[in-house]
Amino acid sequence: MKTRNFIAFAMAGFFGLALITSCGGGKTGDQAKTDSTAVSAAPAAVPSAEEMAKGKAIFETPGKCITCHQANGQGIANVFPNLVGSKFLLEQKVLAVTQVLNGSAKVGNKTVKYPAPMPPQLATKEEAVAVINYVLNSFGNQGGVVTMDDVKDVVVDPR
Ligand code: HEC
Repeated sequence: MKTRNFIAFAMAGFFGLALITSCGGGKTGDQAKTDSTAVSAAPAAVPSAEEMAKGKAIFETPGKCITCHQANGQGIANVFPNLVGSKFLLEQKVLAVTQVLNGSAKVGNKTVKYPAPMPPQLATKEEAVAVINYVLNSFGNQGGVVTMDDVKDVVVDPR
């Protein structure tokens, strides 16, 4: 009996707390609304339609990305990595651009080992930035953008 009373008391406490929290949440919501006019609170940037079209054309060129990472970006288990939700892609955009230019053997900070490294794919930063912006925002990814300025210090290996 006593235990049950205690549980009832604890639950009342929990719901009371939830109620207080949700009221507090309302306030935060109002504040967020005010903040959303500020640049810093804007939603994640997306590439221009032109950039997306350019990246898609590169991705889908026979022999390029699509050949290994597949039309859905999910790759082939244990052979070619899935680009959907890839931590490396989403969190290390500049390295992802570098990898497309110079191959993965050079970049090499991987936790998963694949049978073969990714060979260099493209020769210009413009193309590499476009295709990385495309994969950052395709197949369900909402990864923001990488700019030419972000990759200004990347050196393209001579071919
Ligand atoms: C010949 C097959 C092949 C092609 C073509 C290819 N990749 Fe890859 N890609 C790989 C392999 C293998 C890895 C894993 C390399 C490693 O971990 O060393 C990889 C890794 C990646 C990663 C990192 C993913 C992660 O989570 O580690 C990205 C991003 C990527 N590729 C993008 C691209 C893009 C964009 C293109 C086209 C411009 C492309 N790849 C073309 C084979 C390929």
